[in-house]
Order: sequence, then structure tokens, then C-alpha cells
Amino acid sequence: MPSDAFVARLNEQIGHEYAAHQQYVAIAVHYDAETLPQLARFFYRQALEERDHAMMMIQYLLDADEQAVIPGVAAPQVDFGDVVSPVALALGQEKRVTEQINGLAGLARQEGDYSSEQFMQWFIKEQIEEIATMSDLLRVVQRSQDHPMDIEDYLARERLGDAGSGDPTAPHPAGA
Ligand SMILES: [Fe+2]
Ligand SMILES: [Fe+2]
Repeated sequence: MPSDAFVARLNEQIGHEYAAHQQYVAIAVHYDAETLPQLARFFYRQALEERDHAMMMIQYLLDADEQAVIPGVAAPQVDFGDVVSPVALALGQEKRVTEQINGLAGLARQEGDYSSEQFMQWFIKEQIEEIATMSDLLRVVQRSQDHPMDIEDYLARERLGDAGSGDPTAPHPAGA
């Protein structure tokens, strides 16, 4: 049975994951409107992953017979000055989420809540991948910021961010 402190903090994290979802949708729509379809595709997919993270946490609470509280979220940033700033914002967000995920694992351990500690292990691995992918993308957009079609060509060629889908070790998302 998860500790009360962990359940409260995991419910907060569900809000952070949904906020990340909304932010990535906003970034995808921004790039889509700029007719940069590969960048848009990348962020539409990232958004779906964030939704899945929230749904995995909800399923964990359902399985543990704990209450999952579906939160409202603050409005995302929708205006961006250049091609780089959305990716820089995204990398900052992933770094923040990594701290939150590590904090959740640390709290579970401190509470002697070993099942929750184990549940967080997949998210720790996932954050390492997401930081690596977003750091790669930031380097690409910084290098080619005056030539956005080079960024598009790179994304079409390298399938950045495609590796994570279909991971059999991923926790089950609610409703899937
Ligand atoms: Fe996430
Ligand atoms: Fe993420």
C-alpha cells in the first residue's frame, strides 16, 4: 500500500504531466502554424507521451485503491520569438520533471514504500532518455536556426524521439 505522502505527491505529479502535455501541444501547434511539420510531429508525439505518463500514474493509484485526483492545469506558453525558444523551454521542463521524478523515488524510499519506489524506476529511465533527446534537438535547432528546413530534414532522417514507443517495460496507462 502506497504511503499517504507518496499518493499526495504522485497526484501533484499527474498535474505536472498534464501541464507538460498542454505545453507540448502548444509548441506543436506553433510549429504546425509555421509550416514546420517535422518539428510539429515531434512535439505532438511528445505530448502523447506526457499524457501516457499521467495515465500510468492514474492506473497505479487505481490499482492501489487510492484516489486519483484529475487536476486542472495552468495555461501553457503559446507565443515564441524564434525556432529555438520552444525547444529550450521544453528542455527546461524536462529537467524540472526529472527533479520531480527523482524526488518521488526518494520520498517512496524514505517512507519505506518499496512498491512505489519500484514504480518510479521506469520514469527515472524515461527521463534520462527524454533529456538526451531534447538536448540533441536543442543542439540541432541552435545550429540550424537560420535554416529551419535543415532542421526538418534532420528530423525526417534521424527519427528523433521514435525509439521510446512500444517499450514493453512501460507501466500500463489507464484506459489503454
Ligand atoms: Fe513525463
Ligand atoms: Fe517528458
